[in-house]
Amino acid sequence: MNPWKNEKFTSESLEAIDRKFLPGTGQEVQFIINELGAEIGSSLLDIGCGAGRHSIELAKAGFVVTGIDISPKMLSEARKRAVEHKIKLTLLEGDILSLSELLNSNVEGFDGAICICESGLGTLGWQKDLSVLRKIHSSLNYGGKLILTTYNGLKKYRGDRIRAKSFDYLQGLVHWQLPDDWYDDHDHGEKLKDIQRVYIPAELKMLCEIAGFNFVEILGCKPGEFKRQPLEPDDIEMMIICTKTKK
Ligand SMILES: C[S@@+](CC[C@H](N)C(=O)[O-])C[C@H]1O[C@@H](n2cnc3c(N)ncnc32)[C@H](O)[C@@H]1O
Repeated sequence: MNPWKNEKFTSESLEAIDRKFLPGTGQEVQFIINELGAEIGSSLLDIGCGAGRHSIELAKAGFVVTGIDISPKMLSEARKRAVEHKIKLTLLEGDILSLSELLNSNVEGFDGAICICESGLGTLGWQKDLSVLRKIHSSLNYGGKLILTTYNGLKKYRGDRIRAKSFDYLQGLVHWQLPDDWYDDHDHGEKLKDIQRVYIPAELKMLCEIAGFNFVEILGCKPGEFKRQPLEPDDIEMMIICTKTKK
């Protein structure tokens, strides 16, 4: 089961995101706007939008934003916050694996897309991640860019997790340890699993290129301090910026 469908996991995670990352969101969005280079009023896709921290700021800046998320709780929080900020968002509930189906009946042709803070990609395994990247690519207009931030595999391959055996380095899978009481009682006691596929930079660059993107750049990524900076091996996250071009 995707952990984001679990009430307890989502509440604890949202509380942590609000505390650690919400204050830096304005800076991140300014960087995103500059890098996407999309005109005010154009349409943007926020994949794994969560409680809408980027969607809301982008809408406030004048963009038309569609957010997609698998978690009903995150989306209901996003709806509430959109009302508080007096802005309009299109919010779709579903798995990013079904991106094309979710979008077909709604909107198409985005001028840019973001997927910030491990929002879906990586939880799916590389074959599914590739299929999602292809779908993002086909949902973009020519010239549209994707900005993606996710874990930097270089750190995991060097870190304590290998010694602690919580990183399966043959498959690139991190097994996050969740508190024992985070069981989903409604799911026949199935233990909640949070397993994440992490990528070394060259792997993710390759996936983006196979998906059809060009000019794939890998940068360092620090929450609240987005800027063009080289990726360091010890950075927790990395940033990918890539473009859909005509060829
Ligand atoms: C760490 S949160 C980040 C949320 C938001 N992007 C932010 O930066 O505040 C990850 C989000 O990705 C969503 N997510 C995870 N797997 C997903 C999937 N397969 N499809 C759609 N959303 C997913 C979760 O529900 C959650 O809201």
